[in-house]
Amino acid sequence: EKGGYRHFMLKEIHEQPRAIADTIAGRINEDKDRVLLHDLNLSDDQLAQFDRLYIVACGTSWHAGLVGKFLIEKLARLSVEVDIASEFRYRQPLVNERTLTLVISQSGETADTLAALRESHERGGKVVAICNVVESSIARESDGVIYTHAGPEIGVASTKAFTTQLVALFLFALHLGRVRTMLSSEQLREQIQALLTLPRKLEQALELDEQIESVARQFMHASDFLYLGRGNQYPIALEGALKLKEISYIHAEGYPAGEMKHGPIALIDENLPVVVVVPKNDTYEKVVSNMEEVRARGGQIISISDCDSSDLHSASDAVFAVPTISDDLMPVITSVPLQLLSYHIAVFKGTDVDQPRNLAKSVTVE
Ligand code: F6R
Repeated sequence: EKGGYRHFMLKEIHEQPRAIADTIAGRINEDKDRVLLHDLNLSDDQLAQFDRLYIVACGTSWHAGLVGKFLIEKLARLSVEVDIASEFRYRQPLVNERTLTLVISQSGETADTLAALRESHERGGKVVAICNVVESSIARESDGVIYTHAGPEIGVASTKAFTTQLVALFLFALHLGRVRTMLSSEQLREQIQALLTLPRKLEQALELDEQIESVARQFMHASDFLYLGRGNQYPIALEGALKLKEISYIHAEGYPAGEMKHGPIALIDENLPVVVVVPKNDTYEKVVSNMEEVRARGGQIISISDCDSSDLHSASDAVFAVPTISDDLMPVITSVPLQLLSYHIAVFKGTDVDQPRNLAKSVTVE
């Protein structure tokens, strides 16, 4: 049942190229310049009329939502607010008929997310769910659904559900961008071309497994970790930190790299490993200079990048070199080494990786 893997989590990490290919399959037209979302149940006209978009979710799915904000604001030019379901449902959100709420849930049964969906409906808004479980409560009660085709996720720590959520958000952002006439066919074609290379690039990222295992051995005794990222990689830093907490029970925090000097830098010493997600994009130099600040205070750095430059190597104790892709899709790639890092640290620590203490796969009570 684990297909030769030691844990479901490891199996599910390795299933990501397939899960992502399945999530894309059937959703691109023949000319490869349009996204097809059959179960959205909202016409182009309806979609074009929304003036407010909320993304609401819990945990890892909320982290996917944070990346979704970058995608939708950039590609569809609609302002997006992302909220945690247990906050949203109690704060009298500004929902009306011109509001679309996008709820994200792997299980489709998370109590707070379901309550947020109902709250949006009661206020007259429409709801679309990004969901992995067909016919789950959240899928059934939403006006439309974009299913992630990750297949069953058994490990409590979410991996392939997360990356397929990112892909579903990307598809939705492209669709909305076309409907709102913010993207030309040429731009759509370019984005879709990049998307179609994603499964292969993920295969390449998975080849880092052995290197990551040996780095994990080196750092397994740390009692705290800091994760840094900027822009669309900041949510990936949060997700990396959550993954480590959940399965290895090591305290970890995610921070936007530029915010470090406003407090967390006080924590830096030789005992605090810092994991930095630093792809070659517009803020690359800024993140490298954040890394240099950490190094100057004795901090140890593990970096994840598609850039093989000497300044990166000299600022890092270990570099996980991932393949390159468009900046909009890079968060899918950088997620993989972070999953593997927490997995291997947990295995070295001997925790119950697939069934971590105090956690349930589906949180059906508030
Ligand atoms: C983290 C994790 C949880 C879930 C959260 C939401 O690895 O699994 O944080 O992401 O409980 O669950 P869903 O997506 O089923 O609503």
